[in-house]
Amino acid sequence: MTSTLRALIVASGFGAVALAGSAMAQDVKPEAVAFSDSGGIETPVAAQAGSAEAGQKVLTDRKLGNCVACHQVSTLDAPFQGNVGPSLDGVGDRYEPDMLRAIVVNPKKALYDGTIMPGFYTLDVGKHVREDLVGKTILSAQQVEDVVAYLQTLKE
Ligand code: HEC
Repeated sequence: MTSTLRALIVASGFGAVALAGSAMAQDVKPEAVAFSDSGGIETPVAAQAGSAEAGQKVLTDRKLGNCVACHQVSTLDAPFQGNVGPSLDGVGDRYEPDMLRAIVVNPKKALYDGTIMPGFYTLDVGKHVREDLVGKTILSAQQVEDVVAYLQTLKE
């Protein structure tokens, strides 16, 4: 074998290792999400960065976040926005991304225990959970990051 050929094979071998490494980048499982001392979540829960555009859809999709059932966003063209929770206008100014992530993941930890806002990426959703939903989160890790990306665009 010529040394050039050997070098090529070795190089492509390293390529394969690097690829396997990136394919292994995984979402953080809900039970493994780490809150900081200040109550935020600094590390994104999804392997891929969030998309604000996708996040906007999650906010208004009744089968997903349905955030607008309780919150109002005045720039969103969505009917029947609720006012159970505070308006999300300017929320990107009020909170750092780590806090926005924590509020979406589990507001019982990020805000306070008695909040009626559901945790969207936690398995700790109370005792009375439909059997088919046990062990599932409302949003996927990627959808959480999409929502966080969108919330950061809400500036006054
Ligand atoms: C069942 C109603 C409900 C739903 C659904 C809901 N929230 Fe909330 N949210 C609340 C309430 C109520 C508060 C205020 C905390 C409290 O008083 O419990 C809140 C607080 C917040 C805050 C902090 C706002 C501030 O100004 O302090 C953010 C951010 C937020 N919610 C985002 C979301 C997002 C994003 C979704 C959808 C993925 C969502 N919420 C779904 C009820 C809800």
